[in-house]
Amino acid sequence: MHRDIEQILFAEEALQAKVTEMGRAIAVDYQDKNPMLIGVLKGSFIFMADLVRAMDLPCQIEFFGVSSYGNKSETTGAVRITRDLETDIEGRHIIIVEDILDSGLTLNYLMEYFQSRRPASIEICTLLDKPERRRVEILPRYIGFQIPDAFVVGYGLDFAERYRNLPYIGVLKPEVYA
Ligand code: PRP
Repeated sequence: MHRDIEQILFAEEALQAKVTEMGRAIAVDYQDKNPMLIGVLKGSFIFMADLVRAMDLPCQIEFFGVSSYGNKSETTGAVRITRDLETDIEGRHIIIVEDILDSGLTLNYLMEYFQSRRPASIEICTLLDKPERRRVEILPRYIGFQIPDAFVVGYGLDFAERYRNLPYIGVLKPEVYA
């Protein structure tokens, strides 16, 4: 795995520091609101696990499954639900937890999908943001790092279902996905 990585963007320590800071910010903003965090599978699973452990407040954790990239490195634009919510979100304070915001098509779809179920509020928390690639406007309340337009893997992010278990986030060598 490691030999397919061109450059490490965020080492484990940098990720831990940032995710802890994000979790603490959410805990301050959502005191007494019992927020529901909805992690977007699969990419968010590691981020979610670290984020909620940095949040010292009662909260509910749910997961929602979508896939738009398949085994490709470019979005197909069509968002497919692979796992629906099993709980009612009406009247709840929702925080969507994403590993990466790229074109914005996934979050655009999810915002509409969740809004129609009448939550009290919805905010977005994304670890990574690639603003250069945006095709629709999305304004996350919490952003970990802005990154350049490179193909990144690790800490939950995959290419063709590989590399999710790398403890850092790195840039994949182009010859691996070309
Ligand atoms: C990735 C990522 C986001 C989405 C972002 O998911 O986890 O959900 O793409 O891209 P967008 O802003 O261009 O929509 P992917 O479809 O690769 O599924 P995965 O999380 O299971 O890897």
